Amino acid sequence: MTQAKARHVPVLFDVVMDFLGLRPGGTYVDCTLGLAGHAEGILRRLGPEGRLIGFDRDPEALDLARGRLETVREELGSQAPQVEFFGEAFSHIAEHVGKGSVDGLLADFGVSSLQIDEARRGFSFQADGNLDMRMDTRSGPTAYRVVNEMSERELANLIYEYGEERRSRTVARAIVRGRPVTSTAHLARIVASAVPPMKFAPVQPAIPRTFQALRIYINRELDEIRALLEAAPGLLKPSGRLVVICFHSLEDRIAKDSFREGARQGIWKILTRKPVTAGEEEINRNPRSRSAKLRAAERTATSL
Ligand SMILES: C[S@@+](CC[C@H](N)C(=O)[O-])C[C@H]1O[C@@H](n2cnc3c(N)ncnc32)[C@H](O)[C@@H]1O
Repeated sequence: MTQAKARHVPVLFDVVMDFLGLRPGGTYVDCTLGLAGHAEGILRRLGPEGRLIGFDRDPEALDLARGRLETVREELGSQAPQVEFFGEAFSHIAEHVGKGSVDGLLADFGVSSLQIDEARRGFSFQADGNLDMRMDTRSGPTAYRVVNEMSERELANLIYEYGEERRSRTVARAIVRGRPVTSTAHLARIVASAVPPMKFAPVQPAIPRTFQALRIYINRELDEIRALLEAAPGLLKPSGRLVVICFHSLEDRIAKDSFREGARQGIWKILTRKPVTAGEEEINRNPRSRSAKLRAAERTATSL
């Protein structure tokens, strides 16, 4: 955990701070606190009249974020903004955040380095861990249940749809034949043995694609994103900003389409004609930023 904490660097930090249009006294929501790198940046810019509301459905992440942000608040003393935390999925945001009350909303989708680096969480194909993959460890099916109980056909569809893996049927057949699948390393070996080795790729791409597919399915990630994008315009004040960071094409397509549709309806003014990506220097410093795509939009005064 300490290692993950030390290694974690928030992606596109300065760009996020700029696009959120942070101003003292404002109300901002970080929908994906993670290790609170972005949230700390927001907190430091809000002043005593400001308010930060944070969500994370991973109880471990929420605890860490809370600890980090409370330390910053102590340091800021009388200048510290108010903070409020919710250990829930951000699809529930409208239950906790008032209509038209927010100046800026940030969502940095996907898994955190804390989740990836802890083998027991089961997100990494590079370490041997439990087949779990749940962000919210309190509920929902584990990867163990999915790989060992789902029908071959459903598994194949899932790997095709959420992993964009063309050989999904072959992979699903091998998984079913390999049952019981007992760990992440076991799953990775089964997938690798199902498809021909790639001469120059350090990792057979079917492995990360299968892990991605399971993760998206288990955490209902795409439904979560759709729900947030639908709720966001109603929560923001006129001129309030929405900033999202996506890490793969399935997420980014949803964000792009939703922004475009909102712009067509006069709800959003899109601030990023093309998604913003990390520069070479940031990618060298933080390889995770390589696949990040940031999109930002501003709420117009049009009522819903
Ligand atoms: C990429 S990390 C965020 C990193 C964060 N911006 C930082 O600076 O440390 C994503 C976090 O969002 C959380 N998360 C992902 N989907 C979520 C959802 N639907 N609802 C609430 N939290 C979610 C994950 O548990 C993870 O901790």
